[in-house]
Amino acid sequence: MPQNRSSKKRNNRSPYLFILLVLALLTAALIFGARAMNTWKVYEAEAATTPVPTPTVTSVSVTPDPFRATPVPTPEPTPAPSPTPGLLNAGSQGEAVKELQKRLQELGYYTGQIDGDYGTGTKAAVQTFQKLNGLDADGIAGQKTQGVLYSDAAKAAPGPTDVLADNGIPLLVNAKNPLPDGFSPANLVQVKDIAGNLMTYEKSDMQGVREAVEALARMIQDAVNDGCAPWKLRESYRTIADQTRIFNNRVSSYMNENDITRSQAIARTRQSVADPGSSEHHTGLAFDLNVPGESFGDTAQYLWLKSHCWDYGFIMRYTDEKSDITGIIGEEWHVRYVGREHSLKMRDMDMCLEEYVEWLKKQ
Ligand code: DAL
Ligand code: ZN
Repeated sequence: MPQNRSSKKRNNRSPYLFILLVLALLTAALIFGARAMNTWKVYEAEAATTPVPTPTVTSVSVTPDPFRATPVPTPEPTPAPSPTPGLLNAGSQGEAVKELQKRLQELGYYTGQIDGDYGTGTKAAVQTFQKLNGLDADGIAGQKTQGVLYSDAAKAAPGPTDVLADNGIPLLVNAKNPLPDGFSPANLVQVKDIAGNLMTYEKSDMQGVREAVEALARMIQDAVNDGCAPWKLRESYRTIADQTRIFNNRVSSYMNENDITRSQAIARTRQSVADPGSSEHHTGLAFDLNVPGESFGDTAQYLWLKSHCWDYGFIMRYTDEKSDITGIIGEEWHVRYVGREHSLKMRDMDMCLEEYVEWLKKQ
């Protein structure tokens, strides 16, 4: 049966075909495996030589990100804060400070020495300049302050004021009634030029308003004629800078002597030293008299002054009896010129200046 023979023949070839198929599959698997292995080796070789980018924790934005297509621009590092060029402040010294002092003097704010030392006087002048020129009155001559100071727009200090012509009312100066910013009295003269050897002087260039100095010289002349001498002039006209220095020195000495805070020392200082801008000495109408080597309140000069000052236009400005009103403890050495018309009335009515000005305003 041929059909049967043919079928048997096909069956005899099947194992060869199967083996061939298996061999072909094995060959294919070997070729594929070898290529895969080669790829892995190439990757390993590259990994060994290509640096792996390390992610940064603190400065991500500073380290360029290698995975980004567009590089991120590296920001400029922030510069460390450095002193503003040209900034002048208390304690500064040198030519720039001299220039500053000259300019302040030229504008009428500074009367001290051109010494290149940025002390309390220079600071006070800078503060007044700042106040009158709409700047922050911090006493520091920074870029802004110097910009205005050296410009044509810088406002000069107001001119001198005639303190004796205030609508017939004596000028009242105290903590509640400070002098205007930039105030300076008119008609200042050297006391020594008028009173000569009638007194000794704490400093040779002491000044006061002419009318007050002339009254002082007449008064001391009469005291000396009465046999009441010697006299010394301790204080007269003071600039804001003088007052600032005196005030600050007193605060420091209270703090050094006593275990007290700065604000306690300031409160204590204010009982005997007026705040800068609130002192009668800044008017050129007040004088502190003294007897060398003695406590003035214990002297014959004090008794003479207390009885006679009124006749020359002076008042005993600060007494213990009126300290609640004046805010200042008794200062028997401090006389203030108000003019004879007022001094006699004040004596007769037993009024201090605060009371008298109040009374005058009601008339
Ligand atoms: N000693 C007086 C109060 C003054 O400083 O003006
Ligand atoms: Zn005084």
